[in-house]
Amino acid sequence: MSRLVVLGSSGQLGTMFLDLLQGRGEEFIAMDQADCDLSRPDHLMLPLRGARAVINCAAFTAVDAAEAEEDLAHKINAEAVGKLGALCRTAGIPLLHFSTDYVFDGTASTPYAIDHPRAPIGAYGRTKASGEDLLETSGAEYLLVRTSWVYAAWGQNFVRTMVKLLREKSEVRVVDDQRGRPTHVRTLAERSLALLDRGERGTFHVTDEGECTWYGLSLAIKEALGASCQVHPCTTAEFPRPARRPGYSVLDISKSESILGPAPHYLQRLRETVGVL
Ligand SMILES: NC(=O)c1ccc[n+]([C@@H]2O[C@H](COP(=O)([O-])OP(=O)(O)OC[C@H]3O[C@@H](n4cnc5c(N)ncnc54)[C@H](OP(=O)(O)O)[C@@H]3O)[C@@H](O)[C@H]2O)c1
Repeated sequence: MSRLVVLGSSGQLGTMFLDLLQGRGEEFIAMDQADCDLSRPDHLMLPLRGARAVINCAAFTAVDAAEAEEDLAHKINAEAVGKLGALCRTAGIPLLHFSTDYVFDGTASTPYAIDHPRAPIGAYGRTKASGEDLLETSGAEYLLVRTSWVYAAWGQNFVRTMVKLLREKSEVRVVDDQRGRPTHVRTLAERSLALLDRGERGTFHVTDEGECTWYGLSLAIKEALGASCQVHPCTTAEFPRPARRPGYSVLDISKSESILGPAPHYLQRLRETVGVL
């Protein structure tokens, strides 16, 4: 009974889990969207015989697209999560699931506590908040990990986009009125797995240490890259997008740090990542 079932195995986090588990010689089954489509929650089948846990890295993560496709996002981010919870409950194994800082409204000015009321301001956050709710009521033994501003040296993320822009453009403008905690997938995967393996259950926040705005993050990327491109701050209002985003979404990570020790600082992880891009 030692195999892990990893859903969303081709995404940023799923890829990191596969690398981590392979490196540790752990047995796992990787499932991508073709193997298991979460938009069809009524047809979900998982190979749970001999499994010790399910790790759900799959999600509808396109924040702007979710505004127009909320029904589809709800199926994947909410209904399917409730169904996964039910399957894990029946199998008697835990479900490790991931959620987002976007379940909060962004009006706070100190880090969001785990039990702060959820009040999403956009469709993506609404669907993820519903997923949390359905997981909590599924009867499953669950580990729910909220995180923020996730990036890797692969996949679609702000860091890779900014590296490309800084190399190609002479000037860029970046929003300076949204503040959060950038999180490398290695921090997220390693610390979530450590919590799972220690038998921790319930809700946790896991991010890298430190906080910044997207503008501040861009300056740090520029420095690590040694780029000459000019980076200018701008407001969210100057850079309209389909989805509203929380102005402040720093998560309080003290609970996970009290168990696992301090998280790495985001600047350390960022320099390592930019170094290989
Ligand atoms: N990215 C962030 O900044 C961020 C911030 C906070 C929380 N999170 C949460 O962290 C978790 C991991 O995110 P990530 O950054 O790794 O996301 P990601 O790179 O966008 O990966 C999401 C994965 O979900 C898969 N997927 C999409 N629709 C699916 C469906 N209908 N059925 C099955 N799989 C489907 C995707 O498959 P395809 O590759 O085939 O599309 C992809 O492999 C998610 O729960 C996300 O909500 C992410």
